[in-house]
Amino acid sequence: MTLKKEEGPFVLTREEAHVPSLEDLPPVAGRHVLVRADLNAPLCSKPGGGYEVADDFRLRSSVPTLQWLRSNGAIVTVCSHLGRPKGRVDPRYAMAPVREALTAMVPEITVMENLRFDPGEETNDPAFVRRLIDGFDYYVNDAFGACHRNHASIVGPPAHMPSAAGRLLHREVEVLYGILIDPARPFVAVVGGAKVADKLGVLRSLSQRVDHLLLGGAMCFTFLAALGHEVGASRVESELFGEARSLLGLHPPPELPSDLIALSPEGELGSSTDPTGAVRPFELDLLPGWQGVDIGPATCASFAEVIAGARTILWNGPMGVFEDARFAMGTRAIAEAVASCPGFSVVGGGETTAALHEFGLEGNIDHISTGGGATLELLEKGDLPGLAALRASRATQGS
Ligand code: 3PG
Repeated sequence: MTLKKEEGPFVLTREEAHVPSLEDLPPVAGRHVLVRADLNAPLCSKPGGGYEVADDFRLRSSVPTLQWLRSNGAIVTVCSHLGRPKGRVDPRYAMAPVREALTAMVPEITVMENLRFDPGEETNDPAFVRRLIDGFDYYVNDAFGACHRNHASIVGPPAHMPSAAGRLLHREVEVLYGILIDPARPFVAVVGGAKVADKLGVLRSLSQRVDHLLLGGAMCFTFLAALGHEVGASRVESELFGEARSLLGLHPPPELPSDLIALSPEGELGSSTDPTGAVRPFELDLLPGWQGVDIGPATCASFAEVIAGARTILWNGPMGVFEDARFAMGTRAIAEAVASCPGFSVVGGGETTAALHEFGLEGNIDHISTGGGATLELLEKGDLPGLAALRASRATQGS
């Protein structure tokens, strides 16, 4: 499908965005089904050696599809990548810990070894696709978090067999296209995180759709510096000053913090023994050598007020170095505002989800996206290779 880009952001109807679902597959009873999931979960060392899954959010999110297939009599094999082993077998990225955790949730499934142990996965090698699908009748893509990758297991199988989106992928598509196509207004987006470079495209796209675009996190120092503020030792991407100024000229312009929390040159991140006065609030201009580490109390209050009035709220990226409890105030304030907003709330990104988890607020969010880069790319470009492949499969198979 070609996106229409005549004016402003692309226009895509709900019908065009639709991907086939599990019910669109022929009967699955007794059939061999290959499920591409995103089981790329963080691992940690296990007492006594080996690894275990540190956060099973993506695994739990994959369960409804696997249960549906099993309860309809399918013989299910799950495949996924884990980390970035670069086409070589690397025991640090072996699937065993993930397999153990997933089969405890859904018994009687097979979990293949890490797809990225074979270079053919990332190069989208047709021979690798043929080997992967050998013996399977149908393909289900439930790996939303990997749908922005033009990899063999994502874009290959739908050209060869009846294919559908699993429950997780279907819900991501429904929610994310929903907020792109016809969000309830006011639509407010809060974007934070470390690097402007990673978010430029999504900021440009969002600024054409939202009523308010609130910026926090380390990336706001590039914007503040581009406006001539003294940002001390804060992280700045000076090569992006021009882009930052051009974004600030859009309508509505991104809204920057009005105050900040900073750490003195003598202070240390993660320390509990900093000298007195190592952390203090500033209005916008920091002293030389000070590093911005969070948004300030006035910004927390004004951002929370905007969020409270939202009918759609999208949040991606922490407001500060929340892993250090001294600099968690801004991220916590936004998390609480998003969680208590009566509008429809969508949160994406690994760090943002981790922050919600730490504050115990996950249960108050309408949709937590399993995607990191995939969520940003869908919001920016309006489509993903994995979704396009599923739609093309529907067309070629006439379902
Ligand atoms: C993710 O963690 O965002 C997905 O699993 C994709 O992983 P990748 O960035 O290594 O392709």
